[in-house]
Amino acid sequence: MKIALIGYGKMGREIETISRERNHTIALVIDVNNQQDLRPENLRKADVAIEFTTPLSAPDNLRRCFEAGVPVVCGTTGWMDAWNTVADACKRTNGGLFYASNFSLGVNILFYLNKQLARIMNRFNQYDVRIEEIHHTAKIDKPSGTAITLANDIIREFKAKKRWELDGASTPQSIMIQAVRKENIPGIHTVTWDSENDILQLHHSAKSRRGFALGAILAAEFMSGKKGIYGMNDLLQL
Ligand SMILES: NC(=O)c1ccc[n+]([C@@H]2O[C@H](COP(=O)([O-])OP(=O)(O)OC[C@H]3O[C@@H](n4cnc5c(N)ncnc54)[C@H](O)[C@@H]3O)[C@@H](O)[C@H]2O)c1
Repeated sequence: MKIALIGYGKMGREIETISRERNHTIALVIDVNNQQDLRPENLRKADVAIEFTTPLSAPDNLRRCFEAGVPVVCGTTGWMDAWNTVADACKRTNGGLFYASNFSLGVNILFYLNKQLARIMNRFNQYDVRIEEIHHTAKIDKPSGTAITLANDIIREFKAKKRWELDGASTPQSIMIQAVRKENIPGIHTVTWDSENDILQLHHSAKSRRGFALGAILAAEFMSGKKGIYGMNDLLQL
């Protein structure tokens, strides 16, 4: 498979390494210094594009892939305000988009367990829930896309909670997400259900970026030749 890498930072470089291990070719590399090369004729040299850039640049990069007719896998977080317009553009142009706020297998199993646990907790109102995420200091968005997914899934399943709040105090109707920034942490997420008598936690800690990069490449292999909008549930069938 020929891959166009859009964003050649920490994730872009990790994806390049694993792509080569899996016998894929890198047909195009776009970063901030050669953005003008993100043109249809260059993109069409690839079977699929993988986009890991910044919240500000992702929506436009994705639209360019749709217009070139090249399916794109996006891992950039923090641009969900633009989701509806990007999804509309994808449908209008008959494009292909795979989005995941987190490509690691373990986190997607965590998402599944989190929903199940939230559903169970409707029967046990002595527990309150909070979320903590810890990431490296270069992360731009806050809270992480993964923490937002965890919170929104709890809100959908657990009747008492209606919204989440960043770094505030938990209230009966809101889930507190605490976002911590520390050197060299690829990503830690903990969902805590706390009662007077005990604490129940779901915890995931990424050991490196490799798990995210591998997940993005598996998504790219899945997307080759596809149209429409997909996510990790389509890939993992959890
Ligand atoms: N979904 C996941 O599993 C997952 C995992 C890790 C990181 N992320 C997210 O991926 C994104 C990138 O993470 P990173 O750690 O590689 O960041 P990074 O800062 O190391 O790399 C981002 C790269 O994008 C480049 N860039 C900026 N604007 C651009 C543009 N207009 N066109 C092309 N390139 C541009 C930057 O120069 C930089 O090299 C972040 O949003 C991060 O939160 C997601």
